[in-house]
Amino acid sequence: MDKHIQRLLNRISLVFAVAGTLALFHVFFSTSVSCSYPRHHPRLHDTLTLTLAHSPFPRSSCDASSRPALSPERRFSRIQSSRSWRNRVAALSSLFLRLRTAHLLSNSSRILCVFSGAGHEVAALRQSGVIDVTGVDLIDFPPLVSRADPHNLPFFDNVFDLGFSSGLAGALFPARFVGELERTVRKGGAVALVVERCGSEDEVASVKGLFRKSNLVEVSNVTLSGSEMTLIVMRVNGVPP
Ligand SMILES: *[C@@H]1O[C@H](CO)[C@@H](O)[C@H](O)[C@H]1NC(C)=O
Ligand SMILES: *[C@@H]1O[C@H](CO)[C@@H](O)[C@H](O)[C@H]1NC(C)=O
Repeated sequence: MDKHIQRLLNRISLVFAVAGTLALFHVFFSTSVSCSYPRHHPRLHDTLTLTLAHSPFPRSSCDASSRPALSPERRFSRIQSSRSWRNRVAALSSLFLRLRTAHLLSNSSRILCVFSGAGHEVAALRQSGVIDVTGVDLIDFPPLVSRADPHNLPFFDNVFDLGFSSGLAGALFPARFVGELERTVRKGGAVALVVERCGSEDEVASVKGLFRKSNLVEVSNVTLSGSEMTLIVMRVNGVPP
């Protein structure tokens, strides 16, 4: 084979090896975290623990590793029939209703949900009549969530009307994660983050500070699956906050 091609292939496989290692690191990190703090430490929750915590079982990702694998369809239908699924989808639906009222969301919006776990928010949005919803996470979860790196989203600039995530705490590089949301959401669109309950202006400011070209629209306290959270909505307008 041509030397250049060989070298290129070597480089590509190196990139994949690095990506694989990072993904493993993420999974390992989440596993060890959820083993020590299965539920009561929302700051340490990331998508993996959220997904598992809201499925009927297993209770933590530690149990998960010892369970036989279910087919994606069976796994999804099982999760979807659970009460915790319905509760979380209902809570997200009322949260999205606020965004509708604020004219940040309509049936014709193009929406990106990042760190969406099993796809609760995708389900809530589709049920309310939004057709164009994309859900991504580090691990794909068919049929609602496909795999993409939240720190390096595989979408063009300015293609979405709204970016939504409740996974900021699970992002290894929060500023980069927020930067990707700002990049993919069009000017005039919005980014809505559900974060751990902000008890002070400083906590809101630290989330706000991750944005480079958006301004604050709304801060409100919400309850999601029994957790006290805060909804922070930023409008992407190309102007530094
Ligand atoms: C959005 O779509 C749903 C389902 O089709 C429909 O019931 C609802 O009235 C629509 N909302 C608006 C504001 O058009
Ligand atoms: C949210 O609740 C916290 C207390 O848990 C309170 O300090 C804060 O002011 C509330 N924020 C809003 C926007 O109501």
